[in-house]
Parts: sequence; structure tokens; C-alpha cells
Amino acid sequence: MSTATDVTVPLLDLKAQYATIRDEVEPVVREVLESQIFIGGPKVAALESRCADYLRMPHAVGCSNGSDAIILALDALGIGPGDEVIVPTFTFFSTAGSVSRVGATPVFADIDPATYQIDPVSIRAVLDSRPKGAVKAIIPVHLFGQACDLDAVMAIARDHDLKVIEDAAQAIGTEDVHGRRVGSVGDVGTYSFFPSKNLGGFGDGGLCATNHEEIAERMLRFRNHGMKPKYFHHDVGLNSRLDALQAAVLLVKIEHLDAWSAGRQANARHYDEAFASAGATTSAVSLHEGGLPLRTPQPAPEGARHIYNQYVIRVPAEHRDTLRKALADASIGSEIYYPKCLHQQDCYRDLGYEAGAFPHAERAAGEVVAIPIYPDLTEAQKAHVVNTVLETVRGFA
Ligand SMILES: Cc1ncc(COP(=O)(O)O)c(C=O)c1O
Repeated sequence: MSTATDVTVPLLDLKAQYATIRDEVEPVVREVLESQIFIGGPKVAALESRCADYLRMPHAVGCSNGSDAIILALDALGIGPGDEVIVPTFTFFSTAGSVSRVGATPVFADIDPATYQIDPVSIRAVLDSRPKGAVKAIIPVHLFGQACDLDAVMAIARDHDLKVIEDAAQAIGTEDVHGRRVGSVGDVGTYSFFPSKNLGGFGDGGLCATNHEEIAERMLRFRNHGMKPKYFHHDVGLNSRLDALQAAVLLVKIEHLDAWSAGRQANARHYDEAFASAGATTSAVSLHEGGLPLRTPQPAPEGARHIYNQYVIRVPAEHRDTLRKALADASIGSEIYYPKCLHQQDCYRDLGYEAGAFPHAERAAGEVVAIPIYPDLTEAQKAHVVNTVLETVRGFA
């Protein structure tokens, strides 16, 4: 019988996943090697077509990574120097970094403390503070695999004539309250195939998808040096193509994606129930109001689909290091997504934001901890995580 001390739980166990698909993956990798077609070609075209189908959009354009996907979308929408783009301050760096890479300026907004998603009230406040017409687009992020409030974001975009690029890097297959696949509601959806994503390649990869043919054509051109036809350049594009080996692997993996996301959802329910029965809540304020100092994520609202790229719990900031150390001592992986808001990053110091500018995001950055949620977790591993978290947070009270 295993004891708690035998059980190790990495934050993500890609070897466990690979063991379940090795027999499917190896032949397709060999096929690509035999073909010696590594850039573009039939595997990339097949993946784009499969992704378009999965995402319920007519056009999908593979590219080198999820950061470039945002750059390609911005380029295709004509956003560049002198333009401002609203992004949440609590997200992976690329959401803002890609805006800067096209010469535009990120303008930050706070998050809804209940969901971690960009807060529409904050977006409106930001718009009111900017010169009329300066802001050209919003990039809402579907953080951790949960949909942001797309109805509110799209209403603001309509009112202010803004483009919307949905950063769905962490959210392939996520649906909002109306059952819409995220990425398909704004002008462009962008995705990442970084290995830790629910659909991860064996290296970097990314995708942009859209309902609009003209935008798709521009993204296709931009990903290949702005070239069409060969050696004739309309624009200065990128070299940001998806390679055939990644496409071949992803074509195998996409057929497992729904089952894997369902596994993550089941694990999330298991954690939700175990933590709730010990007194944890999903309330955005309860951490500091007595009771068990542990907050669990809000489950998807009725009609929506959360794919749990991450399961993020929260503890009071002064205790977070203690929790992470206890997890590490118990051989349990954890991570902080994200320890520093983007408006406070050194590279954005010139933008002039002050500490306290976005209180909900700043507080989240001090309190969040992601714990293992991958679908291959065993019952023993989940029990070990739950017991370790609960034992530790009970010690904080
Ligand atoms: C929210 C978000 N946006 C963009 C990206 C960028 O994706 P990539 O790492 O493939 O460039 C990521 C990846 O971590 C992400 O989480």
C-alpha cells in the first residue's frame, strides 16, 4: 500500500500523457520524417482544417507560437505604432508583449476578483481616461481556461468601435455562457500549443482563427514574410510558420483533447468538493474574514465550459510561501501564475503606472497558487494534494 510519502505529484506530468499516446504518435512522426516535408505541407493543412472545425470557425492559420499568433492578429487588423490596446494586467506577459512588438502601446485593465478575468467596469474606466480614438482594440484573455465575460467585452467594443482579439492561449475548447467556443466571438482568436497547454505540441506552436476570410488571408501572408506570391512582399511579415512535426503530433492529440479536458474538469470537481467540505469557499472576499483561509476557483457558470488549464487556489499573501514549501516538501508541484502584474514589470515602468493602480490584480498576484490538475492524476495523488493543502492551511488559522 502506498503511503502519502510515496506519492509524488508534479504540477504537470507530460510523460504520463505520452505513455497513453506513444503508439499513435510514433508512426505519424516517422511519416513526417520519411516525407522530409517539415515546413507547411499536408500535415499543417490538415491540422488547420481540424482546428477550424474544432473551434467552429471557417479559418485557422497555424504559426510558431501563441505570442506570434497575437502579433499576426494585430498586424492583420492594422494595429501598430500610435495605437493603444487594452489588455488585462493579470495574464502571461505575451498578451501585452505582442502589443509592444507591433509598436502599439498596451493599456492595462484590472480583473474581476471573482473570476480573474478582465473586468468590463475597468475597461470602461480605462476608455474614459484615454484620449478619444486612441484605443483601437481590446485583448481579453480567457485566463486559466475559463471564459471572460464576452457579452460585456463585445458590447464595449461595439460602443467604441474597437477590434477584439481573444487571447485563448489557455482556453482551446472553452465555451462561454452561451456555449460559444472562445476565440470565435471577437475578430480573431489566438491559441498556443506550448507543451503545458491542454493541447500541447512537442515544442512551440500556435494558431490564429477567425470568421473573416480577409483577416485570415492577411494572417496567412504575415506569417510568411508578408509574401504572396512567392518572393513578392506586400508587407513586412514574420517567419512564423507551424512545422509539420508539430502539426502531426497535434493532429493525434486533438482527438484526445475533449477527454483530457473532461479529466481536468473531474479533478477540479473533486478538489472543489474536498476543499468545500473542509470549509473553503469561492468567495472573493472570504479569505480575510475568518473561516478556513483557502479560496477555490469559481466553477463555470451555467452553460459555460471551463477547461481548467490551471486550477488556482488562493491563500492569504503572508502564508503563500509556507503553503508552497509544504507542497514542495510533500513532493507536490505548484506554481504562481502570475507573481507580478504587467503594469508593474520593469519593461513597462515608462508607462507610469503606480502600485495600487489595479488592486484586484495586485492582490491576486500575491495570493494565487496553481496546483496539479492534469487529467492523469490518480486518486492517491489527488488525495495527497488535498490532504497537504488542508493540513497546511488549517495551520494558518
Ligand atoms: C494567456 C497567454 N497568452 C499568450 C501566450 C503565449 O503563448 P506562447 O508561449 O505559445 O507564445 C501564453 C502562453 O503561455 C498565455 O498563457
